[in-house]
Amino acid sequence: MIIGSIKEDLSLEKRVSLTPESAKNIISLGLKVCVEKDYALHLGLNDKDYTDVGVIIKESQNDVLQSSNLLTKVNCPVDSEIEKIKENTILIGMMNPSKNQNLISKILKKKINLFSLELLPRITRAQSMDVLSSQSNLAGYRSVIDSIFEFEKAVPMMMTAAGTVPAAKILVIGAGVAGLQAIATAKRLGAIVSATDVRAASKEQVESLGGKFLEVEGSKDMETSGGYAKETSDDYKKKQAEMMQSALKKNDIVICTALIPGKPAPKILSEELVKMMKPGSIIYDLAAEQGGNSAFSEPGKINIVNGIKIIGVKNLMNRLPLTASNLYAKNLFSFIRNLYSKEKKDFNINMDDEIINQSILKGEM
Ligand code: NAI
Repeated sequence: MIIGSIKEDLSLEKRVSLTPESAKNIISLGLKVCVEKDYALHLGLNDKDYTDVGVIIKESQNDVLQSSNLLTKVNCPVDSEIEKIKENTILIGMMNPSKNQNLISKILKKKINLFSLELLPRITRAQSMDVLSSQSNLAGYRSVIDSIFEFEKAVPMMMTAAGTVPAAKILVIGAGVAGLQAIATAKRLGAIVSATDVRAASKEQVESLGGKFLEVEGSKDMETSGGYAKETSDDYKKKQAEMMQSALKKNDIVICTALIPGKPAPKILSEELVKMMKPGSIIYDLAAEQGGNSAFSEPGKINIVNGIKIIGVKNLMNRLPLTASNLYAKNLFSFIRNLYSKEKKDFNINMDDEIINQSILKGEM
């Protein structure tokens, strides 16, 4: 059985789905691995790094697609790639099903077994495969680094002979995976950190990282049985906006990470609220590509309103592609290990396994 991977479109995606380390682990299962020539050169990984662990280098994309039983990708393949994938191939990646319906239909019509890792159930057994967590964790870290880069003041408190520099105040909206890492990173850099979330359970997590939890007065817990957030009522939105008014006046940097799975990003900062911040403040909107948590946020742009910079994030993982690839490739290895039966020396698409059942894309879309 051969696992293969082709280059991603480098103008859009710098991550790779197979690293030398993950390839070595896959080979140790008794499988063969091949990649396209110069597969990860842009990340400082040359072909020798791959051949040293036993990976076969193929001269062209087509060679990889024709010889592989299982293909790994970061993103959904494009038309020209889909045309060349063989029937019955297993294809695994982050297919972004809500955006790529047409491409996915074409793949399924070709009788390719397609897995989308964003759909994995969030159960203990699937934790090592959880691409949303591994990538969001990095997004949370990077959101703080990027915000501070744009902020024109120092962040930690400094007592100098020339006077005291006050610590910057950072507010994190949404204390999920990205939000909690943003809180931890901001604390490490010396900021005074506060955070808010609609789920009551997040209060303890925020406080355990040294952040102050901002509660919406008189609000009920908005957590679903699956651990995600529910959509907020108009009454909640009003109370949250009131709470934000005073918080925004005090904070220098706001990091927006609020998300409700499968829904557009909740709009939390209206134009009026944004304008309450001091000039020189930063709003960093991690949810920009899902519609944004903040007014004036656009993916890939920095908009300046009343001296406030609103940064809309796009392709954030391209800013730390090597770390993101290492984690993603480890997630993929765990998924492949679960899919492969050493006894049968074959892949076992066992629909009774909820990891497989929930991540496979079925039927015509
Ligand atoms: P998550 O689901 O772990 O966390 C989202 C949090 O927002 C949850 O704790 C939820 O309770 C909270 N929330 C939902 N509605 C809220 C509201 N109205 N007010 C306050 N809190 C609310 O999600 P995760 O993985 O942390 O992702 C956060 C955002 O970052 C998402 O928009 C995600 O798409 C984005 N992201 C962007 C990346 C990029 O490269 N641009 C990479 C990774 C994540």
